[in-house]
Amino acid sequence: STPALAITHISADRMIDVETGKVIEAPVVTVDGNRITAVTANGEVPEGAIRLPGTTLVPGLMDMHVHLTGDAHTHGYRRLAVSSVRSALTGAKNARISLDKGFTTMRNLGAGGYADVALRDAINDGDIPGPRLFVSGPSIGITGGHCDNNLLPVEYDAVGGGVADGPWAVRAKVRENLKYGADLIKLCATGGVMSKGTEPGAQQLALEEMQAAVTEAHNRGTTVAAHAHGTAGIKAAIRAGVDSVEHASFLDKEAIRLAKKHGTVLSMDIYVTEYILSEGEKAGILPESLEKERRVGGKQRESFRYAVEEGVKMVFGSDAAVYPHGQNARQFSRMVTFGMTPLQALQASTINAAELLGKQEDLGSIRVGKLADLVAVSGNPLEDISVMENVQFVMKDGKVFKNTLKNF
Ligand code: ARG
Repeated sequence: STPALAITHISADRMIDVETGKVIEAPVVTVDGNRITAVTANGEVPEGAIRLPGTTLVPGLMDMHVHLTGDAHTHGYRRLAVSSVRSALTGAKNARISLDKGFTTMRNLGAGGYADVALRDAINDGDIPGPRLFVSGPSIGITGGHCDNNLLPVEYDAVGGGVADGPWAVRAKVRENLKYGADLIKLCATGGVMSKGTEPGAQQLALEEMQAAVTEAHNRGTTVAAHAHGTAGIKAAIRAGVDSVEHASFLDKEAIRLAKKHGTVLSMDIYVTEYILSEGEKAGILPESLEKERRVGGKQRESFRYAVEEGVKMVFGSDAAVYPHGQNARQFSRMVTFGMTPLQALQASTINAAELLGKQEDLGSIRVGKLADLVAVSGNPLEDISVMENVQFVMKDGKVFKNTLKNF
């Protein structure tokens, strides 16, 4: 049975139209069921409206790189003690935390045992609160690579769920992930910081393997996100046709040119370095990972500035799980420090992300006809982007999940 449609009005001090950068004063947003049906400025506030004085309305936030099924206190060898089933429940906790901070849509890029698929389905079934999730299942990568499990010696037979060598094996993995419910594909194009025995600068999946993955994924109407720190791996991933490059730490002129030419989106997690270098040791992060982070973090921030200056398309991606869920929004102020305007940082986490997902008809801005995913922050993020850390109101799909200003 269809639930009865309920009309809700929401009023705030101002609203940011992320598509144009315009600020709408004293907006009233009308929501009918789960869709936005009207947006007015300086109008009468209808009786019964949800009043959010002192706040700015922005579209529901979108983080394009998280691992909800992981926690920042299970790094390194601690991870081995956590089953996929247990990690799905960790995901339930972190989905709620993320939604409470205004993230109404997320891409979950890499989870063992399809714990992310179970989590997405539980949220969509209404069993637990959480963001709209687009999930990848196990990340696909080479034997011994960033997306394998390299923590144990041979007699334990520990192999990551997404390990595949050779174009056909990679195609088979893509098919398997789609079979078990993945929405998109995550590849590991280079080594990484957090994995044992891998080098962030070194390419891992070969060009041919990534081409195979992209062909298979695109044929099936889905997208590919590639983890890549090193320059060669970034370029190979772009040439293979991936939709987004994650981390993108060591960019050069040609990598930037290729990204622009292919329309590849960059998702650069430039906050997390601060957490790894300050809290990482206590959190059980391997000493070799701390050493690698010292070589990667600063370069990644320089690359971020370069990519912004060159006008490469960027989305907000945090890699939350490496650092605690709920702190995602700390990255906004770093994005501004390293070259974005506050509006660009907001666009990265809304309209650009919606486009990357192919959901620009439904998500990414507060426009008539779109789904009612709305967030209110106290203050004005165009003046001080760090207010994105102070979310007072969250509506997802027309339902209010948080309202700290209820008494007005
Ligand atoms: N998951 C990524 C990796 O292990 C995290 C990189 C974090 N560091 C950074 N500077 N973004 O490679």
